[in-house]
Amino acid sequence: MSERRRQTRAGERAGERKLLLANPRGFCAGVERAIAAVETALVHHGAPVYVRRHIVHNQGVVDRLKARGAVFVTELAEVPEGAVAILSAHGVAQSVLREARQRQLKTLDTTCPLVARVHAQVLDHYQAGRHVLLIGHQGHPEIIGTLGQVPGGAISVVGSPGDVDGLPLARNIAVSYAVQTTFAMQEATSVIEAIRARFDDVVAPRASDICYASSNRQEAIGAIAARADHVVVVGDRLSSNARRLVEVSRAAGCGDAQLVDGPDALDLGRIAAARVVGLTAAASAPPEAIDAVVARLVALGFAAEELPGRAENAVFKPVSMTPLDAVPLAMRGDQVRRDVERCLEQVLIPGPGAPARLNDAMRYAVLGGGKRLRALLTVLVAEMLGAEYRHAIWAACAIECLHAQSLVHDDLPCMDDDDFRRGKPSLHRAFDEATAVLAGDALLALSFEMLSDERAHPDAAVRTRLVSALARTIGKDGLALGQMMDLYPAEDASAEAVALCEQLKTGTLLSYCVEAATLLAGCEGEERERLMRFSEKLGLAFQIRDDILDRVGSAEALGKRVGKDSRAGRVTTIEIFGLEGAKRQSQRLAEACLEDLAQFGSRADRLREIASFAVSRLH
Ligand code: IPE
Ligand code: IPE
Ligand code: MG
Ligand code: MG
Ligand code: MG
Repeated sequence: MSERRRQTRAGERAGERKLLLANPRGFCAGVERAIAAVETALVHHGAPVYVRRHIVHNQGVVDRLKARGAVFVTELAEVPEGAVAILSAHGVAQSVLREARQRQLKTLDTTCPLVARVHAQVLDHYQAGRHVLLIGHQGHPEIIGTLGQVPGGAISVVGSPGDVDGLPLARNIAVSYAVQTTFAMQEATSVIEAIRARFDDVVAPRASDICYASSNRQEAIGAIAARADHVVVVGDRLSSNARRLVEVSRAAGCGDAQLVDGPDALDLGRIAAARVVGLTAAASAPPEAIDAVVARLVALGFAAEELPGRAENAVFKPVSMTPLDAVPLAMRGDQVRRDVERCLEQVLIPGPGAPARLNDAMRYAVLGGGKRLRALLTVLVAEMLGAEYRHAIWAACAIECLHAQSLVHDDLPCMDDDDFRRGKPSLHRAFDEATAVLAGDALLALSFEMLSDERAHPDAAVRTRLVSALARTIGKDGLALGQMMDLYPAEDASAEAVALCEQLKTGTLLSYCVEAATLLAGCEGEERERLMRFSEKLGLAFQIRDDILDRVGSAEALGKRVGKDSRAGRVTTIEIFGLEGAKRQSQRLAEACLEDLAQFGSRADRLREIASFAVSRLH
């Protein structure tokens, strides 16, 4: 029997004392997003990460994050230069962002998207020459943040109709208004009426500023409060939306309402005579606290009853782990893509007098397409280890040639029989099969030729190692073997065999990118070992994501057909662990990648981003 049903039955036996559970209650999407951002930052950037103010107004949430390595500060001045600083969900003034920039902090901003929407509107109104009336509670962090979007004096904060009447402003000035996202709906209505009565030219927000979660929670407890003798709101005293729920309950006709952060805070004397108690929880109240309060009330003889309510399906994009103002990985990728393209263009100029077909086919395969992830990985590791950029780009081009060859052959009718690649017909469809075989061969040879060229590295010993490591990577114990295992799997393919196949056919080339970078930089010993361990996990995670995208991805985004693996009867990680299992597996590998990178500190931030990209990419 579920906990809830057991609770209900226990209540019925004990008598008719009822606990009406309002729906929705507890966490909203913005709060979940902000908390998840701190948790992810702890994994992604490593502890400590600094959080400015309460990430959300709940001490229990703050304490839990503290225990995991988050350090809470009041001002950015307390954050060491260059460290990770996380801004709370309530939003901040522009001056805080400026300070973060000046102190070169790695800033992650968890401002709720609905608060950010209010910021943007306030700025629009200010720029349109309107004085903004901000309906909210003076001193609340959200109000401080919104005020700080525009110069001082451009906004007046009003909390009641009386405040509006007392404004030292002429009746005929152009005004607009905005509302704190957690304000009480009814109170806001009365303040808006006062604004309309007081000014001639009033512009309203495009949609209500009060967030869906605040209005839903207020509406739900409002409907219960009228028939309840007492209302319990689970939440923190600092939480504005929690306090509004107490006020709304009282305004709806409930005799008494109390705000508690957990079961021990319950004032039982005030509930002693109550037969019907309503219960709700703030958008920042964690489920454990809510469950504990409900359990305590049930133990006192209340029969808990879940009431129906509005469904909430808001989903917000997770907070980016790329610090504000940092050059995003995607932009760095663009630069590498441009340089690779330029370099390959020069290498693939057709020889004088030679028939152009082979060269055209090679260009078709390797130019103008692909994510260039292998090139980016090579460059980023080389850069982190202090190798020269021009050497890294040259080696990266050699690797992209090899990669293009592997795709050309992989798509042949005798292999995967794929007619589409990188958003255009596969090479054997655009040309013919024999040309595809030969262009593949020539690309493979070209990659070795490039690695043995002085442009890869001035030291011949380094070049030899680059060449022999690539030969090992793609040969009988590497990529070729992996492709073979894919085409001719064992009858009863085990999880280990499938992982080995995926590792060999794809992972090894990604590992080679890291290996090549260590060779270019002369990196050896423990550092090299760690990076190689990272690369192996990254490579496997990347191929598992390829399998997942083949099952659930979009052909348009991928530039290649989907559903090929199951049509061809391939045994991938998905066949072994299921789709969800495969997702968990790749996530675990990405997390393990971060552990391998921990020792490198912030030098490896880009590689951490690559690891998250490998398992979240859609193309
Ligand atoms: C595709 O590789 C083939 C695999 C090894 C999974 P990518 O997904 O990196 O392909 P491009 O280079 O972006 O086209
Ligand atoms: C490709 O694996 C591995 C190599 C090209 C070496 P897949 O066959 O799964 O790659 P896609 O899905 O065709 O890109
Ligand atoms: Mg294949
Ligand atoms: Mg294929
Ligand atoms: Mg595939």
